[in-house]
Amino acid sequence: MNKIVFIGAGNMSGAIIDGMLSAGTPPASLWTTNRSEDARAAWAAKGVNASADNVQAVAEADVVILGVKPVHINELLASLASHIPKDALVITVAAGVPLENYQYFLPENAICRVMPNTPCLVKTGVSGVFFSDHCGPADHETVTELFQPLGLVHHCQTEAEIDLVIAAAGSAPAYFFLFMEAMIAAAIAQGLDPSDAAAMVKQTALGAARMANDSEHEPAELRRRVTSPGGTTAQAIERFTSENLHGIVASAMVDCTERAQEMAALFKLKHGE
Ligand SMILES: NC(=O)c1ccc[n+]([C@@H]2O[C@H](COP(=O)([O-])OP(=O)(O)OC[C@H]3O[C@@H](n4cnc5c(N)ncnc54)[C@H](OP(=O)(O)O)[C@@H]3O)[C@@H](O)[C@H]2O)c1
Repeated sequence: MNKIVFIGAGNMSGAIIDGMLSAGTPPASLWTTNRSEDARAAWAAKGVNASADNVQAVAEADVVILGVKPVHINELLASLASHIPKDALVITVAAGVPLENYQYFLPENAICRVMPNTPCLVKTGVSGVFFSDHCGPADHETVTELFQPLGLVHHCQTEAEIDLVIAAAGSAPAYFFLFMEAMIAAAIAQGLDPSDAAAMVKQTALGAARMANDSEHEPAELRRRVTSPGGTTAQAIERFTSENLHGIVASAMVDCTERAQEMAALFKLKHGE
C-alpha cells in the first residue's frame, strides 16, 4: 500500500482526499498534517492518519502533496528538503510557485504542478497538470488516479500553460459567480423576490452548464437556438454584444494570466539573497 502524505490539509487537499476516499483508497494509507488541532481531529475521525509533525509524516512517503498557501511553500520546502524520500513523487497545488523552486530544494524528485479549481469539491472540477522531466509513466498514472475522480484532468505541454489554465479554469468559477450575482441583483431590481431570483438564476446556470456539457453542439450554437430573431433573448444578447462582453472577458483573462506571471516572479527563489 502506497503512503500518500498531504502537507496542509485544507480546502483543496480536503477535496482530493474526499475524492480518494470515495474512489476506495484505504484511509490508513493517507497521512495529513495541519497546524490546528481541530483540523487534525476531523481527519482522524475519518480514519486518516493526522499529525502536526511534517518531518515525521514524510518519512518513507511514496507521494507527498503540498497543500499549503503559495506564500508558505519556499519555507516548507527548505524545512522538508532533506526528509522527503528522493524517490517520492511530489505534487504541488500551489498557484504561482514555479517548478524551479521545487527542483532547487528537491533536485532528484519527480515533481508535478497541479492547478485545480474549487468545483473539485463537488467532483466537477478542472485540474491542469504539468510534470517535471523526472516524472515517468507511473507518476503520470498516479496523478491521473488522484485527480480524475475530481473532474477533468488537462495535461499541460509547458509550464506557462498552467497560467492559461488559471485564467480559463482555476479562477473561472468566480467569473460565473459574478455573472450570477449580477443577474440576481438585476432580477431583484426588476421586482422579483430575492430568494426566487437567486433560485432561478442558480438553476438556470446549472441547466445551461449541463446542456453545454452534454450537447454535441458548441455553446455558440446553443445560444443561437434560444435566440429567435427579434425576440426577447435577441434583445438582451444585442445589449451584451454592443457593450463588448467578449472584449471585457478577454481583457479580464489576460489580466488574470499576467497576475499569475507576476506571482511566479514574486515567489521565484532569488539565489544569493
Ligand atoms: N482553493 C482554491 O480554489 C485553490 C485552487 C487552486 C489551487 N489552490 C492552492 O491550494 C493551496 C491551498 O489552498 P486552500 O484553499 O486549500 O488553503 P487552506 O484551506 O488554507 O489550506 C491550507 C492548509 O495548510 C495548512 N498549513 C499551513 N502551513 C502549514 C504547515 N507548515 N504545516 C502543515 N500544515 C500547514 C493549514 O492548516 P491550519 O489551518 O491548521 O494552519 C491549512 O489547513 C494553495 O497553495 C492554493 O494556491 C487553491
